[in-house]
Amino acid sequence: MSEPVPAWQRRGYSIAAMRELARAALPGPVFDFADGGAEDERTLRRNETVFGEIEVLPMPLNGAATRDLSIELFGKRLSMPLIIGPTGLAGLFWPKGELASARAAQAAGIATCLSHGSVCTIEDLAGTGVAPRWMQVFIFKDRGFTRELTERAQACHYDALVLTIDNQMLGNRERDIRNGFGIPPRFTPLQLAEMGLKAPWLLRMRSEFPRITFGNYARPGEPADLKALAGRMASLLDPGMSWADVDGLRKQWKGPLILKGVLHPSEARRALDHGVDGIIVSNHGGRQLDGAASGLGALPGVVEAVEGRIPVLVDGGIRRGTDILKSLALGAAACLVARPHLWGLAVAGEAGVRHVLAIYARELDRAMGLCGASSIAAIGQHLLLQRGRTN
Ligand SMILES: Cc1cc2nc3c(=O)[nH]c(=O)nc-3n(C[C@H](O)[C@H](O)[C@H](O)COP(=O)(O)O)c2cc1C
Repeated sequence: MSEPVPAWQRRGYSIAAMRELARAALPGPVFDFADGGAEDERTLRRNETVFGEIEVLPMPLNGAATRDLSIELFGKRLSMPLIIGPTGLAGLFWPKGELASARAAQAAGIATCLSHGSVCTIEDLAGTGVAPRWMQVFIFKDRGFTRELTERAQACHYDALVLTIDNQMLGNRERDIRNGFGIPPRFTPLQLAEMGLKAPWLLRMRSEFPRITFGNYARPGEPADLKALAGRMASLLDPGMSWADVDGLRKQWKGPLILKGVLHPSEARRALDHGVDGIIVSNHGGRQLDGAASGLGALPGVVEAVEGRIPVLVDGGIRRGTDILKSLALGAAACLVARPHLWGLAVAGEAGVRHVLAIYARELDRAMGLCGASSIAAIGQHLLLQRGRTN
């Protein structure tokens, strides 16, 4: 007899439904910390609405009785063109959240990317043996610290290094200001009363609180609490970074080097001359520069600029299998998702993330079947309605 399906899985039938379950599970300020964007959240909203403006032209008679969703990316086979993107403090959503989501990614046959700002350390994740695993870093004012994180990732055999270039100053996240959400989180009496309703999260996380910090920033003999390390992190951000820093990392890192946060075609073209192996078109989930172009909107310009010489990935607002299909049709090699895996964690830990990934796989498979695409290679611009053009 098959196991009964848990209620949360039935109610979490889509990514949007999982978001609502996460909202119900988390204290408001914690939910908003992940859900929110910068300033007026125009870019945050645009990341999702832009997908609604693209119309698909299916070709059902191509016949797609079986569908192969797998791709090859940086020498590894992935079961589908999806990667769990880097998110700081994932361990705030579930105990050892980064490890739980990495295990879910491996079970689903996809890659995961650890954030510089993870609760667990580079070494903790490597210790699980989960692969493929990517590591994300910033260019810090203390270049030695960037080199140190890179060295640690190299020593731990991470499969790729992601250099995020759009977090060179702290984004102005006004939901966090309104909620009084700081690091470490402090709660008003009203928020604490509300939190009574979130008892399972509180009980689950209570013993974790002392360990919730930016694990990679801890130094022997120095305070390692979240406040101290958040301060250190903020003081290290550097809007003065440049291509010379990319060159420095390129020399140091032996594997694939991926630039994350590229929106401008000229910057993408230039990346080719600096030995970059891949680009992630991204606006950091609308959390940094409000008004920045959506990932999907900027994607075609970047794809054109790199002329197929390196893979171009995209993130921001991918909430449906059809969003993945549209991204691929516009030239992306794969997509990343960030918030949705945090919602999965908040709802049911590793099982929740597995569930989220299964939703994407199911929806992409259905979208491909309905479009008559039996493989990822069969997805192209010809499947999109282009006004003024005959396909
Ligand atoms: C809570 C949170 C923390 C994040 N932390 C990082 C980070 O440490 N490094 C990074 O490159 N991007 C970070 N991002 C951005 C994501 O990797 C991703 O670019 C963005 O959220 C877009 O995807 P989404 O719409 O699927 O959330 C973070 C996003 C969220 C929501």
